[in-house]
Amino acid sequence: MAFPERFSNLPEYAFPRLRALLDHHQPGGVPVSMSIGEPRHELPPFLADVLNAHLDGFARYPSNDGIAPLLEAIQGWVARRYRVELAQDRLMVLNGTREGLFNAALALCPERKAGCVPVILTPNPFYQVYAVAALAVGAQPVYVPATEETGYLPRYSDLAPELLDRVAIAYVCSPGNPQGAVADAAYWREMIALAERHDFRIFADECYSEIYRDTPPPGVLEIAQEMGADPERVLSFHSLSKRSNLPGLRSGFVAGGPECIRRIRQLRAYAGAPLPDTLQHVAAAVWADEAHVNRSRALYQQKYALADRIFAGVPGYKGPEAGFFLWLKVEDGEHAALKLWRETGIRVLPGAYLARDDGQGNPGKGFIRVAMVTPIDELEDALRRLRNSLYR
Ligand SMILES: Cc1ncc(COP(=O)(O)O)c(C=O)c1O
Repeated sequence: MAFPERFSNLPEYAFPRLRALLDHHQPGGVPVSMSIGEPRHELPPFLADVLNAHLDGFARYPSNDGIAPLLEAIQGWVARRYRVELAQDRLMVLNGTREGLFNAALALCPERKAGCVPVILTPNPFYQVYAVAALAVGAQPVYVPATEETGYLPRYSDLAPELLDRVAIAYVCSPGNPQGAVADAAYWREMIALAERHDFRIFADECYSEIYRDTPPPGVLEIAQEMGADPERVLSFHSLSKRSNLPGLRSGFVAGGPECIRRIRQLRAYAGAPLPDTLQHVAAAVWADEAHVNRSRALYQQKYALADRIFAGVPGYKGPEAGFFLWLKVEDGEHAALKLWRETGIRVLPGAYLARDDGQGNPGKGFIRVAMVTPIDELEDALRRLRNSLYR
């Protein structure tokens, strides 16, 4: 029996790869997980009450379109955060953004663009689902450096016009995982103008938008509105996983033009796995509350300050503008991750696992990604051990 060729060259996913690298070595101290982006801050305190009030939802098939209270809560959040009033036909609730980032490509990427196999642009390093989405739809993924030289965001406008004409979708992650860079309003304006010029769609992955130092990152929705851009060109993905410390809830949404949303919704109705109604009620309450988000952000702000203090003087150290990852320069990420594990028990991800060789080498190779998801009272000790192990 044959297997599909298109996924044959996929590297093993980052976390099994990390287990293969570390797990046959003894940790050099009490293990501390800083590899996965799973925030260990408080859960919203009202979770259990809302869950209990809606247990009967488990007796029903979930609503694919999203229950009204959830759609209204998301509309309210987008209006407060970005001053954008979205009609409900511009919103689709997601079972976490990862499936949305994948399924939206399935629903929206055309078979051909400019007479050729379409191109999907992704930053490099990047959140890995972008590349798999490109392969799944038979598009050509093009990995564009998001490195120190480019300000840690991809400079899509530097690509050749003939290539840009073939682009169907460009993923942009802001705040970026793993680099922590923020696309400012000028970046988004340039991006939207480029998408208009070359007739492609922007998939803006903004799931770290609520974790920042002092200024809220601008969102693509507000910039698109300000420019009067065609909403069918700009899709924005958001999630409760990072904002509200709920990666296990699996709640996110995508906002875009009504036709894009209709197509995503239709495909999901056939083949998707909508969030149970009970959990949609929980998500509605969570989107409507900012108090827990503000408390969590205050902890991240302490964490940035701690990291900036501990890594002061480390050559090339640059703290993240937003998000919760440190993207630290080392000589070789795999070597550093293994050394750190064996000397201290701290688990971090080699940067190469989040990037692809673009012909000029793997731009993540000289980095490790450190998720500052550890409770604040354990973080100082962990970061000091990390510094002492790798930057003595
Ligand atoms: C950049 C980025 N996008 C999307 C996701 C997916 O998040 P979720 O599916 O939990 O909403 C993650 C999770 O780590 C991420 O880092």
